[in-house]
Amino acid sequence: MARNYILLGPPGAGKGTQAEKIVRDYGAIHISTGDMLRAAVAAQTELGVKAKQFMDAGELVPDELVIGIVRERLDDQDIREHGVLLDGFPRTLPQAEALDAAMSGLGLSEPLVINLLVADEVLLRRLTGRRMCRGCGAIYHIDREKLDVGDKCPACGGEIYQRSDDELTAISERLATYHSQTAPLIEYYTAKGWLKPIDGAGTPDEVEALLDAVLGKPGKCG
Ligand code: AP5
Ligand code: MG
Ligand code: ZN
Repeated sequence: MARNYILLGPPGAGKGTQAEKIVRDYGAIHISTGDMLRAAVAAQTELGVKAKQFMDAGELVPDELVIGIVRERLDDQDIREHGVLLDGFPRTLPQAEALDAAMSGLGLSEPLVINLLVADEVLLRRLTGRRMCRGCGAIYHIDREKLDVGDKCPACGGEIYQRSDDELTAISERLATYHSQTAPLIEYYTAKGWLKPIDGAGTPDEVEALLDAVLGKPGKCG
């Protein structure tokens, strides 16, 4: 049966960065609720219009909206075949419980929950310096790639932009929201025996090596 993964961790922990690597090396299908919601906001769908105010304020989008979109996507055949890598979901206890029910209902295997550990002061530097590509979704940092708003993405030529929730007030709110609403999931998944804590403070390559050790490199494909 295909393996499933959850990437847990605070804003800026490197969930998106490591997700790209896990998808490339282990073949799971990436579901990022943040990416799905940003796409809905950009397309001004009903969901996007409802979600925008919460996202810009650094608050969580209500459970019922988020659970619905994930549940629908989990039912797709590619996930049964390749497994799923959930990034940024679940973020509350009701989301975790809804996910358990949906996954067992669909006959998907118990997920491995990777908890990326990074101190708040490091997260702040990562988030304020993050730049993204509008074309391919690549994640950059101004200190590392020296790319800034207005530049072109080296991978696809797309426009480099800064996320609207990567300004200081929203970042502080996101960190507070993480600690109050999402951190309790650590205990939830520890009790199930599914949690794998990973030190996320090193470079992206160092974190990838720690992940490979936990996920078992022999399973890598390609
Ligand atoms: P979402 O998009 O999920 O944002 P987040 O959880 O705040 O996490 P980020 O995407 O900011 O960080 P990341 O861990 O992916 O870090 P990244 O790899 O980019 O959610 C956004 C919003 O949508 C939420 O606030 C909420 O409103 C809503 N939402 C989403 N899901 C929801 C849900 N389930 N329920 C309710 N609402 C929901 O890296 C960050 C930066 O650091 C980059 O610049 C990167 O290059 C750099 N970096 C990464 N790794 C390293 C490293 N090891 N060393 C140095 N730099 C690094
Ligand atoms: Mg992300
Ligand atoms: Zn790009």
